[in-house]
Amino acid sequence: MTDKKMWDGRFSGEIDELVLDYTESTEVDRCFYKQDIACSKAHARMLARQGVLTEEEAEQLVHGLDRVRSEIEQGAFVWRKDLEDVHMNVEHRLTELVGKVGQKLHTGRSRNDQVAADFRMYVSEKLESWSAGLWQMIRGLSLQAGAHQETLLPGYTHLQPAQPVTLAQHLLAYVQMFKRDFERIEDCQKRVRVSPLGAAALAGTTYPLDPAFTAAQLGFDRVFANSMDAVSDRDFVLEGLFVAGVIMNHLSRFCEELILWSNPNFGFLRLPDGFATGSSIMPQKKNPDVPELMRGKAGQVLGDLVALFTVLKGLPLTYNRDLQEDKQGFIRTDKCLDSSLRIMAAMTKVLVFDPDRMRRAMKSGFLNATELADYLVHKGLPFREAHRITGRLVALAEDKGLGLEDLGLKELKGVSRVIDEDVYAALDYQAAVARRKVPGGTGFEAVGFQLKEVEKWLEDKKGSCAGGSV
Ligand code: ARG
Repeated sequence: MTDKKMWDGRFSGEIDELVLDYTESTEVDRCFYKQDIACSKAHARMLARQGVLTEEEAEQLVHGLDRVRSEIEQGAFVWRKDLEDVHMNVEHRLTELVGKVGQKLHTGRSRNDQVAADFRMYVSEKLESWSAGLWQMIRGLSLQAGAHQETLLPGYTHLQPAQPVTLAQHLLAYVQMFKRDFERIEDCQKRVRVSPLGAAALAGTTYPLDPAFTAAQLGFDRVFANSMDAVSDRDFVLEGLFVAGVIMNHLSRFCEELILWSNPNFGFLRLPDGFATGSSIMPQKKNPDVPELMRGKAGQVLGDLVALFTVLKGLPLTYNRDLQEDKQGFIRTDKCLDSSLRIMAAMTKVLVFDPDRMRRAMKSGFLNATELADYLVHKGLPFREAHRITGRLVALAEDKGLGLEDLGLKELKGVSRVIDEDVYAALDYQAAVARRKVPGGTGFEAVGFQLKEVEKWLEDKKGSCAGGSV
């Protein structure tokens, strides 16, 4: 093998240095070297099984590929950008190591099916890692929810105090979001774990390949159905980015709550020291930088999704070099999402809530106003009238700087004669929560049931998060 291009048979003249820099992708795709080598080994074994190569040739290739891998892992491998990408770098070094037989590896294969196979394996592995992060996140939230089944705080609509809820219920809402994300990944994997190997450049190949054998060796679940689709489909990357975007959005919403709740005006939460920073000028400050950064980074992930949509939207079949632009965004997104999940899971486990501040916030927000209206309905008033009377009492209490439950019976009766002593039991926050028995509601028993379901789910999914790759 000379240092000339592997495809230069029909070319003359030197490639411009700028063009080389512009077109090469080694810096980005070298992170797939493991997948690339695994695919090549599987391909070589399949070629021998089909009689395209001898067993001995395949053995030489497999052995040589293992040597390339260890050179890369030991840092002894010299990456050459003039070889364009990971595929050419690996093949070139292989041929240096094993001689002419190295040139047989690419029989019945193209970089078009090769890069798609490598990337699918890479994406699938990352999705597994996100699932493991989600599992930890869900576990962290459910541990906190378990500890706060009796802790009450205002539930908000329009960011205005609305009705009392348990902190467990609030945290379990996020559990539902992250569980959906986990399930989205499971579903997405069905379309990621499809082997394109055998599609070759675009039309399949004349060699008697066995794509099912190659796919099975690599742990793919299925084989491509159409060669042209196989080399040009990047939906699996889009789906991965979409899932990542949804997860980042969920994390970002949670971050927003942590930022609000750790603000002294709320005071519901103290951020653990390890996850906050101080100000260089204001000594009193404890800034929620970690959740702020996570909220900010969500923007980048959404950007990566939109960027890939834009790359793909006008592409004719089949492979176009534009497709080389499918990787940076995913790699960047993975880095961001994986670390965000891990940091947030760890942080969630050590959050310190302040139930006392939460209780006080309920008082100032007239969180039991709906209870008073319902009480009046039970006394026989139509709901609209009950609503109006309650509104008047809220205004009265507000004027006096009191909660509804602090108004005397005389004051209450002054607005509506149907109110009796039993109103105080109705206004009790604890009782308000307990009354919401509807399945999925914030009632204590309903929340206890939700928690049990989540614990069962965590147990069920524990094994599938341990790792394992395509
Ligand atoms: N580096 C290329 C990519 O990432 C590999 C495939 C190149 N195929 C080709 N026909 N030039 O898409």
